[in-house]
Amino acid sequence: MRLKAERTAWFEGGGELCSDVEPREHPYWLVMLGPPGVGKGTQAELLQKELGTCHLSTGDVFRAAQCQTEHSPALRAAIEAMRRGELVSDGLVVSMVTERSGCFNCHGGFLLDGFPRTTTQAESLDYMLEHQGIKLDGVLSYELPLTEIVDRLCGRRICSKCKHVYHITARPPQVEGVCDLCGIALFQRDDDHPEPIRVRMDAYEESTRPLVDYYRQTGRLLPILASGTPEEILERTVEILHSRAVAAKV
Ligand code: AP5
Repeated sequence: MRLKAERTAWFEGGGELCSDVEPREHPYWLVMLGPPGVGKGTQAELLQKELGTCHLSTGDVFRAAQCQTEHSPALRAAIEAMRRGELVSDGLVVSMVTERSGCFNCHGGFLLDGFPRTTTQAESLDYMLEHQGIKLDGVLSYELPLTEIVDRLCGRRICSKCKHVYHITARPPQVEGVCDLCGIALFQRDDDHPEPIRVRMDAYEESTRPLVDYYRQTGRLLPILASGTPEEILERTVEILHSRAVAAKV
């Protein structure tokens, strides 16, 4: 099983699947839902090791695009929106995911993180999956009180090379400010400051929280308490997957 996902197809788009993915007999097809900073990316990394699923994050694609030298007007607008903590327009997000929808056939399965974020996006995802004959196994819906979330976001630091995520107190690197895995300096995201955090929380409440009902009503919601250590939350997540019909796939 891969321990480190390269996710080339997801970052670059186009039709080619990544060649380094170990095929799974019963791949998991999962969506991760939850407020900014609740720990979705951290869980995705752990679940990838546990289940072999590929971590498909829309935020990662937009952040990678920031490093490109040339931006189309639409992409420039998306990057500006992201810095302010606002949602990127549905049109741009849906076309970006559509370009990469071949990744839904990833041999390892997928964990969609950060998409969908609006009802329009959720309906587009349902359409794309139906078109490819894929049925979601479930929507992992992580919940945590706001004060704990803000603490997680303000303390987050990320490796500029491998993108491994740390927290200054909860998951500190061995040497302050330096990645344990590649020895590169850690950075703080532009949107992990008080004003963008406030804007992101408002956007979540207004546009994304309604998806909890959207998925509950269609029997796909798997609510998970996101308190405790990442390993405890992972255990909770795996237990929930095993206790569902999804377990039949293991
Ligand atoms: P995105 O990258 O998706 O960010 P997000 O949803 O705001 O989520 P985060 O990455 O901030 O948090 P997370 O839940 O992954 O937490 P993490 O594991 O890092 O999106 C960014 C932006 O892109 C959006 O604002 C928007 O502009 C745009 N965008 C992307 N997709 C879009 C879409 N579909 N539509 C429109 N716009 C879109 O953990 C956070 C911290 O907590 C870390 O420091 C971690 O170490 C720590 N931590 C994690 N778990 C624990 C734990 N159990 N205990 C203690 N600390 C913990």
